Amino acid sequence: MGRRVERLVFAINGERYEVSGVDPSTTLLEFIRTRTRYRGPKLGCGEGGCGACVVLLSKYDPTTDQVEEFSASSCLTLLCSINFYSVTTTEGLGNAKDGFHSIHQRMAGFHASQCGFCTPGMCMSLFSAVVNADKKTDRPEPPNGFSKLTVSEAAKAIQGNLCRCTGYRPILDACKSFAADVDLEDLGLNTFWKKGDKDLKTTKLPSYSSGRVCTFPEFLKTEIQSSSSVLNGTTLTSVEEGWYRPDSIEELYKLLNSNAFDERKVKLVVGNTGSGVYKDMDLYDKYVDLRAIPELSVIKKDNKGIEFGAAVTISRAIEVLREENDGAAVFKKIADHMNKVASPFVRNTASLGGNIMMAQRSEFASDIATILLAAGSTICIQTPSERLTLTLEEFLERPPFDCKTILLSIFIPSWSIAGTELLFNTYRAAPRPLGNAVAYLNSAFLAQISPCKESGAFILDKVQLAFGAYGTQHAIRARKVEEFLVGKAVTTSVLLEAFGLLRETVVASKGTSHPEYRTSLSVSFLFSFLHPLAKDLTEPGKTLISNSDTAKYPHGCLNGYENNMALNHVYHDDSDLHFSSQQEVEFSKDYFPVGAPTNKAGADIQASGEAVYVDDIPAPKDCLYGAFIYSTRPLAHVRGINFNNSLAAQKIVSVLTVKDIPSGGQNIGVSFVFGTEPLFADSLTEYAGQPLGILIAETQRYANMAAKQATVDYGMENLEPPILTVEDAIKRQSYFQIPPPFDPKSIGDFSKGMAEADQTIQSGEVNLGSQYYFYMETQTALALPDEDNCLVVYSSSQCPELTQSVIAKCLGIPFHNVRVITRRVGGGFGGKAFKAIAVATACALAAHKLRRPVRMYVDRKTDMIMAAGRHPMNVKYSVGFKSDGKLTALHIDLRINAGISEDVSPLIPGAVVGALKKYNWGAFSCDVKVCKTNLPSKSAMRAPGDLQGSYIAEAIIEHVASVLSLDTNYVRRKNLHTFESIMLYCEGNFGEASSYSLPSMFDKLALSPTYQQRVEMIKNFNSANKWKKRGISCVPSIYQVRLRPTPGKVSVLNDGSVVVEVGGIEIGQGLWTKVKQMAAFGLGKLWEDGGVNLLEKVRVVQADTLSLIQGGVTGGSTTSESSCEAVSLSCDILVERLKPIKDRLQEQAGFVSWGALIAQATMENINLSASEFWTPDQTSSSYLNYGAAISEVEIDLLTGATTVLRSDISYDCGKSLNPAVDVGQVEGAFVQGIGFFVNEEHLSNSDGLVVTDGTWTYKPPTVDTIPRELNVELFSSGYHQKHLLSSKASGEPPLLLAASVHCAIREAVRAARKEHFSITGSEKSSSVFELPVPATMPVVKEMCGLDNIEKYLESISAHQSVKV
Ligand SMILES: Cc1cc2nc3c(=O)[nH]c(=O)nc-3n(C[C@H](O)[C@H](O)[C@H](O)COP(=O)(O)OP(=O)(O)OC[C@H]3O[C@@H](n4cnc5c(N)ncnc54)[C@H](O)[C@@H]3O)c2cc1C
Ligand code: FES
Ligand code: FES
Repeated sequence: MGRRVERLVFAINGERYEVSGVDPSTTLLEFIRTRTRYRGPKLGCGEGGCGACVVLLSKYDPTTDQVEEFSASSCLTLLCSINFYSVTTTEGLGNAKDGFHSIHQRMAGFHASQCGFCTPGMCMSLFSAVVNADKKTDRPEPPNGFSKLTVSEAAKAIQGNLCRCTGYRPILDACKSFAADVDLEDLGLNTFWKKGDKDLKTTKLPSYSSGRVCTFPEFLKTEIQSSSSVLNGTTLTSVEEGWYRPDSIEELYKLLNSNAFDERKVKLVVGNTGSGVYKDMDLYDKYVDLRAIPELSVIKKDNKGIEFGAAVTISRAIEVLREENDGAAVFKKIADHMNKVASPFVRNTASLGGNIMMAQRSEFASDIATILLAAGSTICIQTPSERLTLTLEEFLERPPFDCKTILLSIFIPSWSIAGTELLFNTYRAAPRPLGNAVAYLNSAFLAQISPCKESGAFILDKVQLAFGAYGTQHAIRARKVEEFLVGKAVTTSVLLEAFGLLRETVVASKGTSHPEYRTSLSVSFLFSFLHPLAKDLTEPGKTLISNSDTAKYPHGCLNGYENNMALNHVYHDDSDLHFSSQQEVEFSKDYFPVGAPTNKAGADIQASGEAVYVDDIPAPKDCLYGAFIYSTRPLAHVRGINFNNSLAAQKIVSVLTVKDIPSGGQNIGVSFVFGTEPLFADSLTEYAGQPLGILIAETQRYANMAAKQATVDYGMENLEPPILTVEDAIKRQSYFQIPPPFDPKSIGDFSKGMAEADQTIQSGEVNLGSQYYFYMETQTALALPDEDNCLVVYSSSQCPELTQSVIAKCLGIPFHNVRVITRRVGGGFGGKAFKAIAVATACALAAHKLRRPVRMYVDRKTDMIMAAGRHPMNVKYSVGFKSDGKLTALHIDLRINAGISEDVSPLIPGAVVGALKKYNWGAFSCDVKVCKTNLPSKSAMRAPGDLQGSYIAEAIIEHVASVLSLDTNYVRRKNLHTFESIMLYCEGNFGEASSYSLPSMFDKLALSPTYQQRVEMIKNFNSANKWKKRGISCVPSIYQVRLRPTPGKVSVLNDGSVVVEVGGIEIGQGLWTKVKQMAAFGLGKLWEDGGVNLLEKVRVVQADTLSLIQGGVTGGSTTSESSCEAVSLSCDILVERLKPIKDRLQEQAGFVSWGALIAQATMENINLSASEFWTPDQTSSSYLNYGAAISEVEIDLLTGATTVLRSDISYDCGKSLNPAVDVGQVEGAFVQGIGFFVNEEHLSNSDGLVVTDGTWTYKPPTVDTIPRELNVELFSSGYHQKHLLSSKASGEPPLLLAASVHCAIREAVRAARKEHFSITGSEKSSSVFELPVPATMPVVKEMCGLDNIEKYLESISAHQSVKV
C-alpha cells in the first residue's frame, strides 16, 4: 500500500516547516493559526463562503522550473495536501517591522479597512490576482507602479470575499489602484492625494513592482529537485499515518480493497472543498488523496473534443476551455459559466470530478453537471470490477455510486459542425451575479437550426435542454420539451406549448424553497434562448430584451440572465462590472487634526494580519476549547445529553451544564436594565438555539465536531405548545412590559385627524423579518484562571463592563476578581453587546471549574442559530389624508417579536416610532405590544427599531401615493416637517432652526433638474423595454441619538508618547482614530497656533475593566463622540497642569517642543495622567440626525434580479470629526441596509430554529451587488453649539436610507405590473401592493408575474388571431 514518507515539508512565508504525526483532518488554516506565529488568515465561516482565510499557494514544477501561484481557502485545504507547496499569507507580503506591502498601504490609504477582519483575505485575493495578471505575456508592460491587472479583473479579484463593514467601494478602489487601465480620477477619497490635485501620478501611491515578494523559496525548490519522490511521483504514497496518496488506479484499489479501509472513517479527496458544502459530521482518520494518479490529471484535446481528468481544477478547466479555437463558442460559454461557480479561491482547488460526484451522489445543485449535460458530455468511471464510459445523463441517473467508484475523466465534445448554425447558451439565476451563490435554477441549451426555405423561419433540427439546481435529484434533460420542439419553427404558439410541457418537467421536490419561482425561471431561460428565432414576436415600439439607453450600464443586470448569442458571434466576457463613486466632503481645519481624513488607526496592521483579535492571542499552556451544545426544540424538558459512539465523541474532555455553576453563583448569561437571561437551560429549554451546556475538548475543531455528536433527550409532558409568532403571543397575552418612559407617546387627536381626511386607508399592513449581524469574526472569548480566585477574560465584546459583572455573578465572586479585556472587535453591529456576554461567561465558568485556560471561537452555524438578530415586527395602520397628499392622521398597531427575554426589546417601540415621525402625520397614535415568544431573544442590531420605523413610514407614504395616483416623492416632500412641527413631534435637542437640514438635503436630491431628467429617462426606458424596468426613489431620514456618560484617561509618558484609554470599544467604526485625533487636538491646545502635531505620538489601548471602570456599552452611534468628550476633558486637565511650565519655558527659550515640555514636567513631578468621566447635560444628551438618499434600480422581469444602478446619499454629519471615517460609516451602513431590504433572508423552521445558518444560505451583499454608482455627500450643517466640535454621529443613521433602494424597486415593479396587469385585464390591482422585505429575486419576480412570459405570448397570440 505504498511506502510511508514520515514527514510533510512545506514553506510558509519563506520559512521551512517539517511536520510529522499531524492529524490528517487538520486544515491548513488550523495549522497556520495554532502551530505558527501567523494569524493573518482568519476563520470567518469554515465553508469557503467568506474569503477571510484566503492564502496564496505556490507549487513548483521542477521539470519546467515554473511556479504556479493561486489563491485558496485555507479553511478547506487539508494540511497534508500541501506537501512541498509554499504558502504565502498576508504577513508574507510585508509587515510593520520590515515595511508594509503596497497592497497593505493602499488598503489603509483608501480607507478600505474598518474592523479589519476581512482585510487580510482581501489582500491575498488581490495579491493573487495581481501576481497572475503580471504573468500574462500577451499583455503590454504596465506603466510604472501598476500591474497588468485590468479594472474589470480588480472587481472580480475580491468576488468571493465578504466584508460587512465597508460596503466594498473603498476596497474596490484599493484594488483598482493596481490596474493598468485605471483612471486615477475615478478613485475615491484617499490619503495619497487630495481631491482636485492636478497632478495625479502613481508616484503618489505606495510603489508597486511585480515580483518583489518571493512566493517560492529557493531552498524548497532545491529540496524538490533533489527529491526523486516528487519528480517521478512514485515513492510519495503516504505522507502521514492516515494520509494516502496512491499514484495509480491499481494502488488506489489495493487500498480500497484492504482491511484498513472502513468507508465511514476514510475520505477520498481532491480539493476537499466539498466539505464546505456538506459538512463532515464526524472526524475521518484516513484520507486518500487522488491527485497523484496521473490519469486523473490529464487534459487531452483533439478535434473531437476535450477530455479532462477528474482531478483537474475548475480554474484550470476554464483556462483550457478559453484557449480553444475549435468549437470555441461552446467551450467559451462553458468557461464563462464555470467562472461563476463559487469564487476564485474555491475554483483554484476544487476539481471538476469532485463537483460531478457530489451531483451524482448527494443531489448537489451543480452548475457544472447541468452545462456539461447540455453540451453532450460523457464520463469515464472505474468501478472495482470494470471501466465504463457513460453519457453524463446515464451517469447522473444511476443510483448514487458507492465510494469505490472512481470518476476518471469527463469528455466535452467539440461542437463545430461545418455548414450548420448552432446555438449554445447557459444561464443561472443566483443572488449574486458573479458567483459565490448557488443558483435557484441553472440551465444550458444547445440547438442546431436551419432556415425554412418557404417561411424564412428557423427550424430546430436538434435541441438539448438541461436544467438543474431547482430542487431536483440531479440535472435533467427536458426530453419531452426537446421532442416537441425538434422539427418545428419557433413561433408564439410553439413556445407556449413548449412552456406548458416545461412547467410539467421542471418541478421542485417537496421542501424546496420558492418552487414556482424556480419553474418560472426555466420558462424565462428557454424564452431567452429561443425568442430571437421567432419571427412573430415583435410588439410595435418594444425591443424585447434590448437596453436602449443602457450604454452607461451595459451589463446592468446579468445575474441570471444574458442575451442570447449565436455561436459565430464575437466572443466577449459578459460579466464585466463598472463601478464609479464620488465623495463630497468638507475638511475643516478649525480643530486640526480633528476634521482631517486621516488613515484609520491600525489599518495597516489590520491589512498585514498583525492586528490582534481575541482568537489571535496565542493559546496559553494547557488551553482547552469549548463549543456550545444547544437545544433544537422551542419548549421541552431536557432529560439528558448523550453522545454518539464516534471518533469525535472520543475527544470530549468535559461537558459543563447548569449543574456546574458554583454554589453562591447564579445561572446568568446576559444582563441588562430590563432583565436577565440564563446562561444554560436548566431542566426546561425555552427556545431552539438555547445553550444547554458547553463541551470541552483539546482543540476547537474537536470541540465543535464533538458537540455535533450530542443527542438531547427531550420530554414534552405537561407543556403548552410554544409561542412562536406575534399572533400566538397575542392569543396567549404573552408580553413584556414597556416601562412608561419608553412607551411612545400619541400626538393630537387621531379621530379628529381622520375626520378631517378626504380619504382614509383602514387596514394597511407591513411585515418585517429579522436580519443577522454577520460580523466577520464570530463570538469569541478566552478565559484564564489567575491567582486568588481571579480570572482574566479576553472577550470580543461591545460591553466589557457588563461582561465582567455577569461573569462575577455567575461564579459568585466579587467583580474585582474579574478582569475583562477587549482590544478590538471584528465587527459588532450590536451583536456583540449582550450576545457576547454568554460566550465569555461560559468560557469563564469552564476555566474556573477546570482550572485551565478555556477559549471558545463559536462556529458560524452555532453563532447564526444562537445570536438571533434584528426584531421582526408586524404593523397594521390606519391613515387619513387629503386629496393633495397632505396627511391628517395615523394610527399604528405595532407588534414586535422579542423572543424569550427582554434584552433591549422595551426600547424598540420608541425607536420605531421615533424614526416613523420623520413625516408630519397630523395626529398620531399607536398601540404597541412587545411579544414574548419561544425564540432566541432579539437584540440591538445597527439602527434597531429605527430602521423598521423609517421603512414603515415609507410603506405608508407609498400606499397613500398609490391610492391618490400621486408621485411618491411629492407626497413625501409635502409631509416633511417644518422646524416648528418637528419640535412638537420629536424629543431631544433640535438646536437652531438653521440646523434642520433635512428639507434642503431632500430638495437638493429630489427636486433638482437632473432628477427630473432621470425620471424622464426612466419613463422612456420602461416604455422601450419589455423585460427590464427601472425605478427611482428618494427617501429622507431622521434619527435620534442619545449620548451616555463615558470615561476617558490620557497619560503622557516620559518620552512624550501619549497613551489613551476610553470606555468605548473599537469595533471598526473608527473610534480609536477619532479619539487619537481628539487627544492630539486637546493636548495641542497648549500651542495656540496648533503648531505641534501630536497625532503620531498618541496610542489608544485596549479596554480593561479593572483599569478604566464604567466603560458602559459601545453602541447607539455616539460612543466615539462621548469617548472624545471624555478625552477632551482629560486633556484639558493636563493642559492646565502643563500650561504654566510651557509659558515659563517659552519665555526662556522662545519655542518649546513637546518633548522638552514633558521632560521638564517630569522633572517637576507633575501628574501626567488625567482621567474624566464625561456626562452629557440635559441639553446635549440627545439630538436628531438627518439624511436623504436617492436610488435608481433596474429589475429583470425574467429572473427577478435587481441591479442598483446608482445611489446618491446626502448625510448631515455636522463638522465631521474625520470625513474618511464618516464616509466609511455612511457607505457601510447603507450597504448593510441594502442587505436587509434586498438580499438577506433570515429564516427559521417550524420550531423556530434558524435555518439560514451559513454562507451557503445567508447572503449579505458582495462586491457585485452594491450600487454601480455610489455617491456620498457629507452635508455640513455648520456650527452646532451643543455637539462635540459641531460634529454629528454617523454609525447607524445612514442605514435607514437604504430603504430608497427598496422603494425604487417598488417603483420598477409598479411599472412592470402596470404592463403585466394591463395584459391580464386586472389593471386595478397593479398599483397598490405590498412589496415584501427583503425584495429578493423570487419576490420581485413573483410581484411582476411568475407567468409574465406566457401572458405576454398569449396576448401576442390573441393579437395575431385578431389580425388573421
Ligand atoms: C463556497 C462554495 C461555493 C460553491 N458554489 C458552487 C456553485 O455555485 N456551483 C457549483 O456547481 N458548485 C459549487 N461549489 C461546489 C464545488 O464546485 C465543489 O465543492 C468542488 O468542485 C468539489 O471538488 P473537490 O476537488 O474539492 O472535491 P472534494 O471535496 O475533494 O470531494 C468531493 C466529494 O467527491 C468525491 N470525489 C472527488 N473526486 C472524486 C473522483 N474522481 N471519483 C470519485 N469520487 C470523488 C470525494 O470523495 C467527496 O465525497 C461550491 C463550493 C463551495 C465550497
Ligand atoms: S473561513 Fe474560509 S472561506 Fe470563510
Ligand atoms: S472591515 Fe471588512 S468585515 Fe470589517
